[in-house]
Parts: sequence; structure tokens; C-alpha cells
Amino acid sequence: MSKELIENAAAMVAYPKGILAADESSPTLTKRFAVNRLESTALTRRDWRETLFSSPGLGEYVSGVILYDETFNQTTTTGLSFPDFLADLGMLPGIKVDTGAKPLAGADGELVTEGLDNLGPRLIDYYAKGARFAKWRAVLQIDRGKPSAVCIQANTHALARYAKLCQESGIVPIVEPEILMEGDHDLAMTSRVAKTVLAAVFDQLRSFDVTLSGMVLKPSMITPGTNGPTASPKAIAEASVECYRDVVPASVAGIALLSGGQSDEAATANLAAMNEIEALPWPITFSFGRALQDTPMKVWASSGQDRQQTQTSLMTRITTTASVLRPRHLISV
Ligand code: G3H
Repeated sequence: MSKELIENAAAMVAYPKGILAADESSPTLTKRFAVNRLESTALTRRDWRETLFSSPGLGEYVSGVILYDETFNQTTTTGLSFPDFLADLGMLPGIKVDTGAKPLAGADGELVTEGLDNLGPRLIDYYAKGARFAKWRAVLQIDRGKPSAVCIQANTHALARYAKLCQESGIVPIVEPEILMEGDHDLAMTSRVAKTVLAAVFDQLRSFDVTLSGMVLKPSMITPGTNGPTASPKAIAEASVECYRDVVPASVAGIALLSGGQSDEAATANLAAMNEIEALPWPITFSFGRALQDTPMKVWASSGQDRQQTQTSLMTRITTTASVLRPRHLISV
């Protein structure tokens, strides 16, 4: 496996940095804009993202940014492509390559993430334009009989095929099996489901001979369901780390968590509690979307799209989040 791939995977999770997930599809970003009464056009989406990415000092805490195809192919007001713009600022450009979660045939409302068609040539093209890592998100829900075995099998198989294709193109795959928080289940139930799902992910990755030191895992935190009994950050951190220790091999470059709709404070408190745990075999950092962007987006809207105020708000979120990370020498055995 190429040295570049392994170095980039390590760089993505290197202390004191995490990943900024700004890869919302245009329909999803339009919904988030609508909540803030913001107009959504290709131009307003570009301005929003350019504002975020040009925040002074962002590269000190952000190793890479996940882009959506629209942004990836847009140019900044200074005339640079977004991948070149990010690379010039010392951040790795990433690209979401799945085409979304679609109904899985015969699976009672469960979803399977699509996007494998033509993925090999698409990755070669993305690499040529500067992408150094990619993201694919599988979505699983907890309910009676869910996630079903067939849903786990279909999604983990697709994740592994995607990951192998990425590595063959010199692109680090972020492997993201998200277990949604909706439901009234407790922490123990999420933990059981997550162990089953993550074990299936690594079985499939092994079947496709994916190099684990050349990938980043992006799991959800082990939390109770949104309508289930609440749990403290310590309990969430302990359940999460226990689950990951059981099933995530130490050779994985790192774990970069999604925020999954938690408030920014809750996501950061849980990340902090995980980083308090000694002797972790991998760095545990952030790859948050909403937990980094929700507050700055409110400022963007209320300030009449003032760049400086929005960037100050983003940097407050980023520095607060990155400040809970611990250097590797303190967390390895
Ligand atoms: O796929 C999901 C995003 O990359 C992370 O978004 O932190 O809002 O869950 P989130």
C-alpha cells in the first residue's frame, strides 16, 4: 500500500486536529439554510463554504475538509478550485462519494447507501483534481428487528467495496457506519447494535483486503436513543471506547467521530470524556458537521452574512472542540 495513503490517513487524525465535515448535499444544505431563513443557490452555498474554509487559523485544528461534489467543482472568489484553496492552506481536500441512502429492497423501510456505479473512474478523477480522502456514509436505525441482518450485510459490503476502490486510487477512505440516534432504546442496546455492525464492517474490510492503517473509521458515539434514558458523558465515553476496543483493530489509523445531531456542547463533552480514557490504541478525534456548523450558520444568518463574525464563531467551536483532544503519547500504551 502506498506510503502517501498511510501518511495521509495518519495526518487526518494527528493531534491536535480533526476533520470538518462540510459535505452536506445541496438538498440537505438547503434545508439547513431554510431553518435560518437563508436563500440556497449554488452561489450562496459557495459563499457560505468559502467563508468557513477561509477562517484565519482553521488549518491549525482542521486536518481536512470533506466537500460535496458541487463545492469540489466550484471556484473561490479568488479563482482557485476549492481543493487547491484548501491544499494551499495546509488542509487535505476530501470528497463525499456516496450518492445517498436509498430504500433497501425487501427490508421494511431500511436503507442501503448507493454510489458504487462508476466509482473507480470517479475516484481517479477526484484524485487528479486534488482529493486525498473520501467519505461514504451508511445509515442504520435501531428499532424492532432493526437493523436487520440483510441491511447490515448490504451496507457493510458496499462500505468495503468503496474502501478498496479508494485505496486503489490513492485516496484514504473514511468508513462511516452511522447508527441513528432516533428511538427510545438505552445505551446498552446501542452498544450491542454497534458491536454487531462494526464487527461486520471489519469482516467485510478484511474480505476486500483493505489496509487498515490507510483508512479512518467514522462511527457514531454510543449514546442512548433520543427518547431513551439519558446517560452522562462519562457513561457514553466508556460505552463507546469499550465497544470500539472490542471490534476496531489497533492498526486503524484513527477514529473520527460524527456528531449525529447532538448539540455542539454534548458532542464535545462526549469527545472530551473519551479522550480522558487512558491507553487508547488509536487517536479519537472529531469529524463533525452540525456540531461545528450550526452555531456559525446562525451567526451568518443573523449578521447579514458577515464573514468576520461567522469565522469567529466557527473558530470558537473548532478551538473548543480541539482543546479536548489529547496528544498521542499520553493516550498510547
Ligand atoms: O455524514 C455525516 C457528516 O459527515 C457528519 O455530520 O456531525 O452532523 O453527523 P454530523
